[in-house]
Amino acid sequence: MRLYHNDASPFVRKVMVVLHETGQLADVELVHAKGSALSPGSLPTTRNPLGKIPALDRPEGATLYDSRVICRYLDARAGARLYPAPGHSGEWEVLTLEATADGMMDAAVLMVYETRLRPADKVIPEILEAQWRKIERSLDALETRWMSHLSGPLNIAHVAMGCALDYLDFRHGTRDWRAGHPELAAWHVGFTARESMVATMPRQI
Ligand code: BEZ
Repeated sequence: MRLYHNDASPFVRKVMVVLHETGQLADVELVHAKGSALSPGSLPTTRNPLGKIPALDRPEGATLYDSRVICRYLDARAGARLYPAPGHSGEWEVLTLEATADGMMDAAVLMVYETRLRPADKVIPEILEAQWRKIERSLDALETRWMSHLSGPLNIAHVAMGCALDYLDFRHGTRDWRAGHPELAAWHVGFTARESMVATMPRQI
């Protein structure tokens, strides 16, 4: 398999953590891909018309894209059960928590694009703050309602949330997401000590 990859992308990182955790790392060749909302650069537009990464070429069929689809495929391929079986208790909560983490990443990445792609005098602070409020509301919901879902055997929601919180540190470290979220912060300390998380820590490119 071939994974279109960028070390800074939290969505690619989700896939990388799943590859580590399910023992499939050696089955994948990484292809560096880089572009922006303004120019696709080396993003795999012929593989994924949306021009987004991660995208995964696999021998038996069409290129897969979107981290949720790829993670689900890799989980099934390894029989790993990072996604609960259909009908299993907690199925919908795991999927909703994964979607929450992905939405936090979306908002955090949009904030990066807002400042990276516009000249400083054209940045609209209200857009930045509206995106950050989405993240803050999610952090509050996690702290007050979702902590019990972050314990127990590893699942895809844990992976996604670990990647989302690390991305906040990576790109929005001055915002201090930990303030007012002590339980989530404590969970993050334990989760990011996992070998798969240490091995995939985002770095500047
Ligand atoms: C980043 O530089 O933060 C980034 C790179 C690729 C995808 C998403 C985010």
